[in-house]
Amino acid sequence: MLNSPIDEIKSRLDISDLIQGYVRLQKTGANFRARCPFHSEKTPSFFVSPSRQIFKCFGCGVGGNIFEFVMKMEGVEFRDALKILAQKAGIELQKQDPKIQTERERSLEICELACKLYQHQLEISENGKKAKEYLLGRGISEESIKLWRVGFSPDAWRGLLGFLQDRGYKADEIEKAGLAIRSGQEVKESESQRVNFYDRFRGRIMFPIFDINGQVIGFGGRVFLSKKEGEPKYINTPQTLIYDKSRVLYGLNNAKVEIRQKDSCILVEGYTDVIMSHQAGVKNVVATSGTALTPYQLTIIKRYAENILTCFDMDPAGDTATKRGVDMAIQQGFNVKVITFGPTTLEKKQDPADLIKENPKKWEEAIVAPKGIIEFYFERTFAKFDSKTPDGKKNIAKIILPVLKKIPSHIEQSHWIGELSSRIGAREEDIIEDLKKITVDDLAEYPESGGDQSAIPLQAKSRREIFEERLLALLLKEPIKGFEVLGEFDCSTPSVKEIIANLKTQTAGVSDFNYTAFKAGLPQNLHPCLDSLVLEEEFIGATEDMDACQELKLCNRQIKLLNLREKLLDLENEIKKLESEGKLDDNIIGEFNRLSQDLMMIEASR
Ligand code: CTP
Ligand code: MN
Repeated sequence: MLNSPIDEIKSRLDISDLIQGYVRLQKTGANFRARCPFHSEKTPSFFVSPSRQIFKCFGCGVGGNIFEFVMKMEGVEFRDALKILAQKAGIELQKQDPKIQTERERSLEICELACKLYQHQLEISENGKKAKEYLLGRGISEESIKLWRVGFSPDAWRGLLGFLQDRGYKADEIEKAGLAIRSGQEVKESESQRVNFYDRFRGRIMFPIFDINGQVIGFGGRVFLSKKEGEPKYINTPQTLIYDKSRVLYGLNNAKVEIRQKDSCILVEGYTDVIMSHQAGVKNVVATSGTALTPYQLTIIKRYAENILTCFDMDPAGDTATKRGVDMAIQQGFNVKVITFGPTTLEKKQDPADLIKENPKKWEEAIVAPKGIIEFYFERTFAKFDSKTPDGKKNIAKIILPVLKKIPSHIEQSHWIGELSSRIGAREEDIIEDLKKITVDDLAEYPESGGDQSAIPLQAKSRREIFEERLLALLLKEPIKGFEVLGEFDCSTPSVKEIIANLKTQTAGVSDFNYTAFKAGLPQNLHPCLDSLVLEEEFIGATEDMDACQELKLCNRQIKLLNLREKLLDLENEIKKLESEGKLDDNIIGEFNRLSQDLMMIEASR
C-alpha cells in the first residue's frame, strides 16, 4: 500500500480511461483531445495528458487531476469524489465516523436502502406480487426488473420511515433524501418524532433513478391499483442534494457506452420505454424524467453523441416545452431526427414500450428510418389540414413558415420553400415575401447549455498574446540557450514580460536551469499563467520533430513584425498630423524610413 488512499487511487487509475467514460477522446500524439465537457464549444480545446495524469481545457481554463475531474464532472465534494474513485480503483476506504459523512453520502445511502426495500417488497408483499404480475404482463421481463431494480413501495404511512429509522437514519435525513414528507400540523415535543413525517411513496411501483455511475439518486413511483381521483400517475423525488430532474437522464448509466459507440442517442418519454427498449436490445436509449429536454441534459448528451433521435410527440403548431427542447438541441448543433411509427393519425401516439411489447422488430425498424425534423413537421401539418382549400393553405403556411424561418442553412431553407411552394401551389417569391414578414422568437434567449458553466468566459487572445506566450513557453524549455538564440527581443504582454524578466535574472550567469526552483522563486500570482503556458505548449504546441530554437526564432520574428507594423502605423498617423500642421521634420521621416526598411528586411527573411 502506498502512503495514502489518494496515492493508491492515483497509481491504479489512468486519467484517460477515467475521462473516456464521460467524454469522447481523440488521440493526438501522446495526448488526448476532446470537446470540453465543461463549456460548449465547436472545436476541441480540452486535453488529457496520460504522462502527467492531468486534464486541461484551454477554452475555459478548467484543469486538474482525476479528483478534480470527478468533482467538477459529478458536481461533488472531494470526499465524494474520493469514494467514487476508490470504488473504481477497487480500494476499500477506512470506515469513517458516520458523523463526518457528508449529507450527500447519507442521502445516497438512504436511497440505496430504500431501493433494496422496494425491490424486496415487490417479491414478498401481497400487493407487491400483484405489481410484479402487472409488470410482467406489460412485457417487462424478470431480468429487466432486476437490472432496473424496479420495486414496490409498502402501502403504509411509515413503512420506509420505520425501516430506515431502525437503521439509524433520522426522519429529517429521510426527508432530505426526498423520501419522507413532513406533515402539516406541528407535533408537541412529548410525542414521538416519527409522527410528523410520512412516506412520500406509498403503494406505488417504484422505478429507481440512477446517476451516471448507477447509484440510486431518486425514484419515480407509478400508481398501482388504488388510483384515487386526482392522484397523479407518477410521483417523483423532488429536488434534493443528489437529485435534480433537469440534469438527469433516466437510463444513462446503462446506455452511455452504446450511445457513444453509435454516436446517437434515442430520447423517449417514459421509464417503461427505456426498459423495454434495452430489453429489446436497443440500448442507446434514455428518457427525460417527466420534464421537457433541458439545456443541462443536452450538455450531457453532447459528451457522448452528435445525433439525437426523439420519439417525442410534437405538435408543430404548438409552442410546447417539448418543441422548444428540440429547437434547442438543433441550435446546439445536434443532428435531430424524429422516430415515427404506428398509424400517422393524430390520435394519441403509441409509446415505444407498447410497440415493443407488440413486436420488437417494429421498434428496430422504426429507429433505422427516422425522419428529418422539418420533414416531420411537414408531414404532421399536411395531415392536419386540407392543402387544396384556401383556408387549409393559410393554416399550413401559418405553421410551416415559422419553422422555415428558423432553418439556419439557406440552402436547406430554399429546398423547403420549394417543397412548400409546390405542395400548396403558391409561388416561391410570395412565400419568401411572407417569410420576411415573420418574426420568430429568437432562440438566443434560451439559456445556454450547461447553465452556470456557460458563464465561463472564453479566453479570446490577440495575436500578440498568442505569439508572446508561445515564445515564453519555448524559452522555458532551455532558457539559457534560448536567450542566446533570441538576442534582443521585446515582449509587451504584462504577465509574459514579468515572467521573462524573472527568468532572465534567475538564469543570468548560471549554467544549469531548474524549472522547479525557478517556479518556486516566481511570485505566486504568476503561477497560473506559467502553468497554463507550460501545459499549452505540451498539449498543442509541441510536435515531435520540432526544433525548439527554430520555433523560437519564428515566434520572435512574428512578434517583431507585429511591433514594427504597429510602430509604423503610429508614425504614419503622427506624420499626417504634423503635415497638416505644417510641422513635418526630417527626423520623423527618417525614423519612418528606417523602420520600413527593417520591416522589409524581416519580411524578406524566411
Ligand atoms: N410522468 C410524470 N408524471 C406524470 C406522468 C408522467 O412524471 N403524471 C413522466 C414519467 O417520467 C413517465 C413519463 O413522464 O415515465 C412518460 O409518461 P407516460 O408515458 O404516461 O408513462 P410511462 O412511463 O410510459 O408509463 P406507462 O407506460 O406505464 O403508462
Ligand atoms: Mn407509457
